[in-house]
Amino acid sequence: MLGDLLQVSKRTIVYTGAGMSTESGLPDFRSAKTGMWETEDPAKVASTTALNEQFEQFLQFYKQRVIAAKETGPHAGHEILAKWEKQGLINGIITQNVDGFHTMAGSKNVMELHGTLRNVHCETCGKVYDNERYAHDEFYCDCGGKLRPSVVLFGEMLPEEAFIQSVFESERADLFIVLGSSLTVTPANQFPLIAKEQGAKLVIVNMEPTEMDRYADLVINERKIGEVLNEADKAVKNK
Ligand code: APR
Repeated sequence: MLGDLLQVSKRTIVYTGAGMSTESGLPDFRSAKTGMWETEDPAKVASTTALNEQFEQFLQFYKQRVIAAKETGPHAGHEILAKWEKQGLINGIITQNVDGFHTMAGSKNVMELHGTLRNVHCETCGKVYDNERYAHDEFYCDCGGKLRPSVVLFGEMLPEEAFIQSVFESERADLFIVLGSSLTVTPANQFPLIAKEQGAKLVIVNMEPTEMDRYADLVINERKIGEVLNEADKAVKNK
């Protein structure tokens, strides 16, 4: 079914959340028991308030995420998406993920709605460094300012270019495939609706049901994304 939709679609956009990277070994945020927000309070570790007033907790949270992302990498599902882009089966990926795995797997048209963990930048002068600094406990800029990951913190605006490009792509898609997102965080969760409203078919692949399943043409719950992508890849290959 997903393979059939891919095959006939003229312009397919994939939209990924943290569930895309759990099979690489990175936890997501809201899965019961394993999600990061089960044990951490995002307001205390991932917000502008945390950066400004609880820098120690902020650093501990992001240092371990930087190290965890460096210790793993894209899985076969990321590689299938990169291959599909080369084959012209998909036209781009809108991602909420900050691990950089889509780009590392070879995907080209990747819109990083929530920024990236791959770099850190100075909160004072804006100078950008590789995230290696965090791995070596170097948390301050040469200018003395605080270094923070180039991710969107709670309380910050989304990067304008990625946002505008994501609207543009969502408005043009005739197939919009969500992979591994609870679709609970605005404004990132608006893109499936933008696509649906202008006539796209909406597919949601997510272990648990989401609030947006009622708008979807196809919902695949209780299945791992890696397996679903592998199966769809075999289906399109055999066409
Ligand atoms: N296969 C299929 N679904 C999966 C898998 C998997 N292997 N692993 C996890 N999931 C599903 C979970 O059931 C969950 O509903 O992925 C979803 C991930 O949802 P969240 O943890 O809420 O992650 P996400 O939707 O990306 O969060 C959005 O919230 O905290 C902020 O900035 C953060 O970008 C993040 C945003």
